[in-house]
Amino acid sequence: MRAASVADYREAARRRLPKVLFDYIDGGSYGEATLAANVADLAALKLRQRVLRDVSKLSMSTEIFGQSLSMPVVLSPVGLAGMYARRGEVQAARAAKAAGVAFSLSTVGVCTIAEVAKAAAPPWFQLYMIRDRGFMAELLATAAAAACPVLLFTVDLPIPGARYRDTRNGMLAATAEARIGQALDGLAHPAWLWDVQQRGRPHTLGNVAGAAAELNNLGQFWGWIGRNFDPSVTWKDIDWVRERWAGPIVLKGVLDAQDACDARRCGVEGIVVSNHGGRQLDGVASGIAALPAVVDAVGGDLTVLMDGGVRSGLDVLKALAVGAKACLIGRAWAWALGARGEAGVAHMLAILRQELRMAMSLTGCTDVLDAGRDLLAP
Ligand SMILES: Cc1cc2nc3c(=O)[nH]c(=O)nc-3n(C[C@H](O)[C@H](O)[C@H](O)COP(=O)(O)O)c2cc1C
Repeated sequence: MRAASVADYREAARRRLPKVLFDYIDGGSYGEATLAANVADLAALKLRQRVLRDVSKLSMSTEIFGQSLSMPVVLSPVGLAGMYARRGEVQAARAAKAAGVAFSLSTVGVCTIAEVAKAAAPPWFQLYMIRDRGFMAELLATAAAAACPVLLFTVDLPIPGARYRDTRNGMLAATAEARIGQALDGLAHPAWLWDVQQRGRPHTLGNVAGAAAELNNLGQFWGWIGRNFDPSVTWKDIDWVRERWAGPIVLKGVLDAQDACDARRCGVEGIVVSNHGGRQLDGVASGIAALPAVVDAVGGDLTVLMDGGVRSGLDVLKALAVGAKACLIGRAWAWALGARGEAGVAHMLAILRQELRMAMSLTGCTDVLDAGRDLLAP
């Protein structure tokens, strides 16, 4: 079946990927209420249908942090993408480049900054604060030397949220039982096994390979995060990062208007209103519900982006209407990558673009730069 939507790519990824990986992508924390709210709150927003407004020419281009984007969409940092498809980060970055949108590389991606930069383009680099500051400084220098245009500093993961699906699938345990379970799961998905396990090595966390062990077992991944992520980070550490990063710094994971004001005081260039795709504190507001207060507080001074639950071009326009300058998408590209590699991500982005075109045409919005709250029904 040819995929017609992001939802179709989700189903295709479910079929192709081992259950432990599909659930890792698909799942959220605890009862997954915030994950569901991210999607439901976007769906509940109603666009105003407007007619007879000459929509023969539409402009979707925008500029974010000096970078031209063909539409206001950025691929969010997603860890372990090189386990969903062979050298997955490279494949997704190539698709993003061809589509004229930005790709973000996770600290815990499989491919290195250099591998992605060489094969596609320098990615936005996503930083998790790791205890070893000497290593952090080296990582920032590596990203700067590779000409990464933006630093996404993720601030909503001082410790990982409990994800029940991962626990049940044995993802968190480096035991023999978990290892056997994952091996059987892999054997039941031969196309993935051949593509990723046979031809996709090395399976290290490329950017932190100097500090992390090989991913023989997914339990090792979580063990490493638990030991190395630094929960003592405060606003003061932004200064530390600033001293080592000359380009734009964007705080990812701000949900509260007061925090947004503190971010402005720290002198960062932007924020991503995000709850980490409902993977951290369950019960917090959806990205789209948190967005208006943040935009009202700092939208005049900072570039405000949002993510969480964006599954279509219609959702992109809704987020712009509420005040985001662009959306980040996480699961949408991870599913497409897991289902069909670079071609899947390219096709998924083409679907988003077509859906955005449709939404603009029927709301009478001819330029994404003009999208505002008047596009929404009261
Ligand atoms: C499988 C997966 C892995 C993720 N890994 C990271 C990561 O390494 N760093 C990060 O800042 N955010 C990470 N996120 C969060 C995404 O960047 C993004 O905030 C979230 O997925 C947006 O919600 P959506 O999936 O509904 O689009 C991850 C999300 C998923 C689904």
